[in-house]
Amino acid sequence: MGKSPLPFMTMTDLQRQSLQTPMTVLALNGSLRAGSFNGHALAAAEILAPHGMSMEFSCCTGIPLFNEDEERLGIPPVVELLGDRIRSANGLVIASPEYNFSISGVLKNTIDWLSRLPSRPLKGKPVAILSATAGAFGGARHQYELRKVLLGLDALVLQRPEVLIGNCRAKFDENGNLTDAATQQAIASAMQAFAAWISLLESGSSAVTTDAATHIALAV
Ligand SMILES: Cc1cc2nc3c(=O)[nH]c(=O)nc-3n(C[C@H](O)[C@H](O)[C@H](O)COP(=O)(O)O)c2cc1C
Repeated sequence: MGKSPLPFMTMTDLQRQSLQTPMTVLALNGSLRAGSFNGHALAAAEILAPHGMSMEFSCCTGIPLFNEDEERLGIPPVVELLGDRIRSANGLVIASPEYNFSISGVLKNTIDWLSRLPSRPLKGKPVAILSATAGAFGGARHQYELRKVLLGLDALVLQRPEVLIGNCRAKFDENGNLTDAATQQAIASAMQAFAAWISLLESGSSAVTTDAATHIALAV
């Protein structure tokens, strides 16, 4: 995907920071739809991310419905591949619509498969969440359910800033370019915070966080 600037914004105004250490982030879309607004949001995130953060793109296409009988025959290669890509990335950005106040079925199905990989690709993985929805709440209800699921898998989810893109049809042009200045700023801030979150965790804090969570679970 090209790095051409969005047509409406100046990079100077958005003050994209430069990272001291380059990092790669995998972007996962929880919508299978061609022309997905969440896909457009991820494309905007690539443009708005700090210099030095490169983004790779993935999706849930081709992931079969989870079935323990199938699992006993072997984890599908498409799931293994996604797990490998998550493991080798510094972080994971998930953008997904809200379906009926909850997580999209394909995204939950994908996470269920990923949770069965012995290598546990989401454990200790820095994750950022975006959502674009037609509704006014920007997918808030889905985001809290997704956070709960990721908590159970020991992913380390960025808390703030939350990026909730409501009324998404009004915020992108017909070519999928993000045209809403406030949303551009929100995504830019989130990607900057995500880079800082990844750096913090890679400096050694992730082990502390995960161990603390384990102690709390054992103490209860
Ligand atoms: C089955 C279904 C359920 C939906 N439920 C919600 C919902 O609970 N809240 C909401 O804001 N939008 C809901 N929508 C509308 C989506 O936000 C909208 O279709 C959005 O564009 C989907 O994201 P995408 O463009 O990335 O595919 C729903 C759409 C579908 C197809």
